[in-house]
Amino acid sequence: MKFNIAVLDGDGIGPEICAGAIEVLDAVGRKYGHDFIFKHYPIGGCAIDECGDPLPERTIEGCMASDSVLLGAVGGYKWDDMPVDKRPEKGLLRIRKALGLYSNIRPAKLWKALAKASPLKYELVKDGVEIIIVRELTGGIYFGERGRGTGNGGEYAWDTEKYSVAEIERITRIACELATKRSGKLVSVDKANVLESSRLWRRTVHEYCARNYPQITVEDVLVDNMAMQIVKNPAQFDVVVTSNIFGDILSDEAAQVTGSIGMLASSSLGDGKRGLYEPIHGSAPDIAGQDRANPVATVLAAAMMLRDSFDLPREYAAIETAVQRTLDDGWRTADIMEEGKREVGCKKMAALIAERV
Ligand code: IPM
Ligand code: MG
Repeated sequence: MKFNIAVLDGDGIGPEICAGAIEVLDAVGRKYGHDFIFKHYPIGGCAIDECGDPLPERTIEGCMASDSVLLGAVGGYKWDDMPVDKRPEKGLLRIRKALGLYSNIRPAKLWKALAKASPLKYELVKDGVEIIIVRELTGGIYFGERGRGTGNGGEYAWDTEKYSVAEIERITRIACELATKRSGKLVSVDKANVLESSRLWRRTVHEYCARNYPQITVEDVLVDNMAMQIVKNPAQFDVVVTSNIFGDILSDEAAQVTGSIGMLASSSLGDGKRGLYEPIHGSAPDIAGQDRANPVATVLAAAMMLRDSFDLPREYAAIETAVQRTLDDGWRTADIMEEGKREVGCKKMAALIAERV
């Protein structure tokens, strides 16, 4: 089969990690007889440099014309002082909206081979941790009305958190589908003791589940308590559904619990098959261009694309197994290095995984 993939390398280590993922995808293509065609488009800081816009029109068009999108990372010191609309992150927020990707799935998985990397006590993580955060991605405070003004108290600024029933229902459906394939347990995170939008969130999640997925048990957890529970006993969670901002915060926390943010991938999907797949980590400008980045998260993001956008579960498994074997064989990048293992750079790590595919 033939697949067109738009590659948005972005900034910092973005181009290196995307190159690693492409190498692994090419190995999958050779082994299973698929033709992956890659076209690169600018996003983030490099796009600002090129044409003054973090998300040029031709990038949106390229993504729309593709079967799916692979993204490296955006941002860097150079653009830190730019005005809001000219910041690299704005490119990311806009591409999510432009492609209608309202559901962001972030699995925080603790790899057994890396259990020692977790900052938590070994007893808490020894049986493995896999928290799948389903984050609403195109609504809430990220996209709500905002503004500035001056009043009696001087200058002020405001942002709004707003959710409609339709927005809550469609993200709940995605979470329920996932939960159905897994433990059948869904945790919904909100701040219903304070926020009106959370009260609607909570009621809608329950009504929707009762109507459409009666076999799923839904438990509500307040976001502050959730932040605590993730470090107290992360193994109690399976699928978690939450709003854009809570998902942003909790997914970083859950990722850190696994001790290896360089290993975690995420997918963003809407109603169609085209998705945006990216590592959870950022552009790491401090190590850019030094062949020191960990390509695994991007490699696994590419694997998720094969499974979730192209319906190729066997090819997904081939990549996951290849990553597992590479770790089992003792190969590590700097971020996950431990005594007695062999340290390699980004290129070599990708080559080792590709070889094992
Ligand atoms: C993420 C990032 C982005 C977000 C930033 C870079 C805009 O933190 O993908 O989690 O807040 O969504
Ligand atoms: Mg974030």
